Amino acid sequence: MNVLKRAAVVGLGGQAQEDHLPGLADCQFADLVAVCDTDPARAAAPAKAHAVPGYTDLKALLHKERPDFVIAAVPHHAGRKVIEACAAAGVHVMKEKPFATDPHEAAELAALCDNSGIELMVTVQRRFHPVYTAALQLLEQIGTPYLVEGRYTFHCPDPAAGWRGDAKLAGGGALVDMGYHLIDLLIWYLGLPDRVLADTSAAAAPDKEYDAEDTALVHLAYDCGLYGSLLISRSAGPKAERLTVTGPRGSVVVERGSARRLDPAGHLIESLTREPAWPAAAAAQIDCFCRVLDGTRPNPSGPTTHLAHAAFLAAAYASKATATARDPKEFLV
Ligand SMILES: NC(=O)c1ccc[n+]([C@@H]2O[C@H](COP(=O)([O-])OP(=O)(O)OC[C@H]3O[C@@H](n4cnc5c(N)ncnc54)[C@H](O)[C@@H]3O)[C@@H](O)[C@H]2O)c1
Repeated sequence: MNVLKRAAVVGLGGQAQEDHLPGLADCQFADLVAVCDTDPARAAAPAKAHAVPGYTDLKALLHKERPDFVIAAVPHHAGRKVIEACAAAGVHVMKEKPFATDPHEAAELAALCDNSGIELMVTVQRRFHPVYTAALQLLEQIGTPYLVEGRYTFHCPDPAAGWRGDAKLAGGGALVDMGYHLIDLLIWYLGLPDRVLADTSAAAAPDKEYDAEDTALVHLAYDCGLYGSLLISRSAGPKAERLTVTGPRGSVVVERGSARRLDPAGHLIESLTREPAWPAAAAAQIDCFCRVLDGTRPNPSGPTTHLAHAAFLAAAYASKATATARDPKEFLV
């Protein structure tokens, strides 16, 4: 792989600044050639800092710069139009999670990628972190899992702020946003559950107007007997991220940057730690996508993989609306 791929970043908010622009500076196989944000002020600063053209119109960028791929880090409701514009121009897409805001959008976008021949990889950076991959091997040692407990919490001062406070724009709240990572781990490690029963609330800031849940609790069960829950909150601190899977021979606990295997009494058998916890996931994802584009690596996080995530989320939101358990498979389009 000698020639650097030409990359453009679309959506220059928090995630682009924190992960994708530094990731492009650090990666092996791609070079930033342009940036785009519908807000001219947001486009101007990174354009100047990285000495690349800044655009407010994605179609103009695609036409003039002809990038090999776009990294899309836009609000959830804007994702579809970005993917459609890229597909029309034959430009590949690395899409920030979520892939889509509902199962129909997910199915339509998956078909669009297929028909237009573009690759799309959804960024779920835990899949590029060796500790989360190693946890898969540890899981083989605990026997058949019967219990799973996930928790991802932190405190954001204003859950009503911006597009994240509006369920229609965000496609939901904490569950579709930060919860997507935990749902991805669950599906990766254990598959799609057979039943989910969810409760959600937007009650942490009673003086604010917002309808996107700040907190969600999802009970889940598999026909094989495995069951458990995921608690997601962007209002209830402390900051914590953990997934624990328990079987007859013990548990595996995966946290940010560490995985532990415990015996049935909870005593440590072995542990793996990565220090620092997150040195290079953004660059690793970009390089992986370049290898996917070169045909030297399969796409680990393509559109069809993420139909399950959209189905899980739709089932959880339908469960909350109907106060009944729902089967995510009914929401696979
Ligand atoms: N993987 C992670 O850990 C992680 C962390 C944070 C955010 N994200 C994801 O990244 C995405 C962006 O989140 P954020 O926190 O950066 O949001 P943000 O609001 O900080 O930034 C979004 C930017 O997109 C711009 N924008 C809106 N519509 C646009 C369009 N049509 N074309 C171009 N630009 C447009 C906005 O002006 C804004 O600058 C979301 O999908 C979010 O879920 C992922």
